[in-house]
Formats: sequence, C-alpha cells, structure tokens
Amino acid sequence: MKTNNILDVSNLSIYPRHSKTLKLVDDISFNIPKGKVTCIVGESGSGKSLTALSIIQLLSVQLDFDGVIDFEKSRISQLPESKLRDLRGLDIAMIFQDPMTSLNPVFTVGYQVLEAVLAHRKISKSEAKNEVIKAFDDVGIPADRYDSFPDELSGGQRQRIMIAMAIINNPKLLIADEPTTALDVTVQKQILDLINKLQKKFNMSVLFITHDFGVVQEIADQVLVMYKGKIVESGNAKKVINLPNHPYTKALLNCIPSLKSSKKLSPINYKKLDQEMAKL
Ligand SMILES: Nc1ncnc2c1ncn2[C@@H]1O[C@H](COP(=O)(O)OP(=O)(O)OP(=O)(O)O)[C@@H](O)[C@H]1O
Ligand SMILES: [Mg+2]
Repeated sequence: MKTNNILDVSNLSIYPRHSKTLKLVDDISFNIPKGKVTCIVGESGSGKSLTALSIIQLLSVQLDFDGVIDFEKSRISQLPESKLRDLRGLDIAMIFQDPMTSLNPVFTVGYQVLEAVLAHRKISKSEAKNEVIKAFDDVGIPADRYDSFPDELSGGQRQRIMIAMAIINNPKLLIADEPTTALDVTVQKQILDLINKLQKKFNMSVLFITHDFGVVQEIADQVLVMYKGKIVESGNAKKVINLPNHPYTKALLNCIPSLKSSKKLSPINYKKLDQEMAKL
C-alpha cells in the first residue's frame, strides 16, 4: 500500500449470495488518501452505499463481496468479526443517511454518545461525559442538550449529534453516507462546513457519499464517479468538475442547478449515454 493512502480497495465486487453473477458493484478499485476528503458521486442505485458498507463489513446478510480491502497496514477484508467490532467506531466511523433510524428514540442523545465512548475506551463515566460535552461543542450543540431526546431536536441538530458520535473516538477514517440529503440547503451547507472544519482540525480522512456534484464541489479533494456498479471516472475533484472525461460525468454535471447562470438543466438521456459509452 502506498503510505499516503489510508485505504486501498482492489477488485471489489458485491453480489447477492444466491447469484454471484449479478454484480451490484462490479470489480472496482480505488484508494483514499490520508487527511483528504474523497467523494463518491453517482445516482440512486449506482452502488455507493454498498461500497461504503463493505469497507466496514456491514453488508446485509443476503449479500457477499470479493476483493481486497487494506486499511493502513491491515487487510481488513479478512478480519474476524471480533476484530471488526474494534475497528468500527474506533478507527473507522460511519454516519448514516437518516439520523432518526440511527438514534434510539428512548435514550437521551448525551447518553447515546456516552455509550459510543464507553464501548471503545476504558475511562470513567465522568471523564467520558466530559468528552461528550467537548464533542457537542465541536459540532455546535450546547451542553444543555445532553439530556434531550432525539425527537426534541431538529433534523440538522440530530445530524450534528450523529457527527459527534462518529468523531468522538478520533477515527482515522470517517465515512459519511449522504449525511445532508434530508436537510434543507442552508442546514446542508452548515453541516458540510462542519465536516470540513472537523476534517482539518483532526486531520481525518473522509469518504463522503453524495448524489450531488454541488456537494462534491463544496467539499471534495478527490472524486470517484459511480455508474451502474462501476467507477467510470476518478481524480482530483476540481479537474473532474472542470474537465470531465466520461459521458456520464458530463451528463451528471449538466444536472446541477446554478442561480448565477441561466444555463438550462438537461436531464440525463440514458439511451444516448449508453450509445456514447458503447463507443469508449
Ligand atoms: N440486500 C440487497 N439485496 C439485493 N440487492 C440489493 C440489496 N441492497 C442493495 N441492492 C441493490 O444494489 C444496488 C446498489 O445499491 P446501493 O444502496 O449501493 O445504491 P446507492 O448508490 O447507495 O443509491 P442511493 O443513492 O439511492 O442511496 C441497487 O440496485 C440496489 O437495489
Ligand atoms: Mg445509498
């Protein structure tokens, strides 16, 4: 593995256990550089979430994967479940798309973040509580929200709690699966700024999943464009946005609305796209 990468994925394929030939993710290889933000962008169903879930091996039991996944010096694609449990939440943390399904409605948010600390670290409850308050401060949640229940918070606040829970153990890699999709644009911008700020503060590596090139533009150093289970284009985010190579990337970029220009948006013409791809 190159030393400037935190994660190297080689020849990853994901398929239903009963049908190995049906590739939901089809032989993709990529790496995540240390201390940078890498975005996976692609439309619904392109295989983004499955790719993320395979890294921490939380794929549904109906699915299986082939391929090699190296995290720092260890081959995590072959780790036993007991070791994977240590890895998840400690070295690699994940923020899921919908905070309401990830937070338990019957416990306070402070307690739930406290549990994330105590599950991985041998420190006293009062030390752990101090860590939680510090993490709340990092994500812009006032300390007096410690005893609130999830449904007493706004969507943006809940997502901040999920971010606090993800970063509290100082993960080396943060995976965020469309963490802002359910939020309105102003809150979305605040959350992206927050993730950017925390990434720099803790020098984390981030894998950020989105269907929106506007988000890529806002946050990414490197981008991987996925279409139908394959990576069709990858590289420096600015370069890909300014000079896209692949017809799908071009089509996806044409769907970004801009208030500044009067450019007409064009929906993706899949028939034309398939014809162009056949010529590649
Ligand atoms: N448990 C499963 N069994 C069979 N097929 C599945 C399963 N989970 C996902 N898939 C299929 O795999 C493909 C990729 O799914 P995935 O969830 O990775 O998409 P995605 O790119 O994250 O989409 P979205 O943007 O909608 O979240 C989809 O076609 C989906 O229907
Ligand atoms: Mg998804």
